[in-house]
Amino acid sequence: MFASRTNWPTAVNELTRRVRERRERGLPILDLTESNPTRCAFEYPGEAILAPLLSPENLRYEPSPRGARAAREAIAGYYAEHGASVDPEHILLTASTSEAYAFLFRLLADPGDRLLVPRPSYPLFGFLADLNDVRIDTYRLVYHEGWRIDVESVRGALQPTTRALILVNPNNPTGSFVKRCEWELLRTFCAEHHLAVISDEVFLDYAYAKDSERLGTLLREGEDEVLTFVLSGVSKLLGLPQMKLAWIAVTGPKALVHEALLRLEIISDTYLSVSTPAQQALPHWMMLRETIGRQIRERVKANWEYLRESVARIEGCRCLEAEGGWYAIVQLLDARDEEAFALELVEQEGVLVHPGYFFEFEEEGYLVLSLLPPPEVFQEGVRRILRRMGGE
Ligand SMILES: Cc1ncc(COP(=O)(O)O)c(C=O)c1O
Repeated sequence: MFASRTNWPTAVNELTRRVRERRERGLPILDLTESNPTRCAFEYPGEAILAPLLSPENLRYEPSPRGARAAREAIAGYYAEHGASVDPEHILLTASTSEAYAFLFRLLADPGDRLLVPRPSYPLFGFLADLNDVRIDTYRLVYHEGWRIDVESVRGALQPTTRALILVNPNNPTGSFVKRCEWELLRTFCAEHHLAVISDEVFLDYAYAKDSERLGTLLREGEDEVLTFVLSGVSKLLGLPQMKLAWIAVTGPKALVHEALLRLEIISDTYLSVSTPAQQALPHWMMLRETIGRQIRERVKANWEYLRESVARIEGCRCLEAEGGWYAIVQLLDARDEEAFALELVEQEGVLVHPGYFFEFEEEGYLVLSLLPPPEVFQEGVRRILRRMGGE
């Protein structure tokens, strides 16, 4: 009855089952996986966010496959602040970054073609690939006092049907930026093998500190050799995932950019999935970037510092270095089973964390924590985790 591409295991995993049970029993959970910013007690400027939705413009429907020009100009303005000059005509709006990935997979790959993605990374890639009939090959991020891309593993994963290299800059959950020296090797590799690059920059503005070794937005690199698609959206940039607005900005060799945009326009025209109110509101929302972004950056930084200091005081685990993003990784050094420990944390301490396998770490022994929860929740959660580790 059903297509094999949707033949996913649908059984609820043990961790989710236990969390549900606990909630049903009315017991509290300190959720350190929470990555929905609208549930993390930030002070959103409610009026300024909602007022543009009342514009009478929203009563008219003027469909446009690339999206409203004013919204695309506001996005170009954002990149100008990052030192990148982008023609608004080279930007196309989508309902989410996930939808942007889907459009690009359809644009670049025939059924069975392959894409290169980092590992560990964002768990949605497998589903996005299945839904778009493409295959995923992973390249490695390796940790040695900091994460770096194993460029040899990128080369090793190449196949005749590989169509694109996906960079997540900075990556989720490792919080690592692509380095300039890595990009120099990767851009040559992509040019040689006619690969497009998809650069997921949803966390770009969440760096802990400046570092000139890191790659900024790929739109700034004056990329003229490799067809490049830069993705971002309001879900992370403005902490507004419910508004469903993201974008693809295209750069690279002129003729390829032109052709890519024509084709993307037809894909987009088929769905026209971005709502008019969100498009109309975007120029206003982009002015709130600092108000919202600053709160998120301060929260993430404070939680990260608390975690590092607390973990440094006990044996048996360590925090991995990170450069940005919304997540932290704790490595268990005492050969504990990460899943068993995550279950134990739910049962015994009422604390929920992600075991590393959720992000496809190559080895066992990692916990991933969201840095978004309010400090009182985060700190109490961390105290209980470390107590379980035998630190108190
Ligand atoms: C690296 C990365 N890219 C994209 C997304 C999805 O963003 P959106 O809400 O725009 O689909 C996420 C969500 O967590 C993410 O972590």
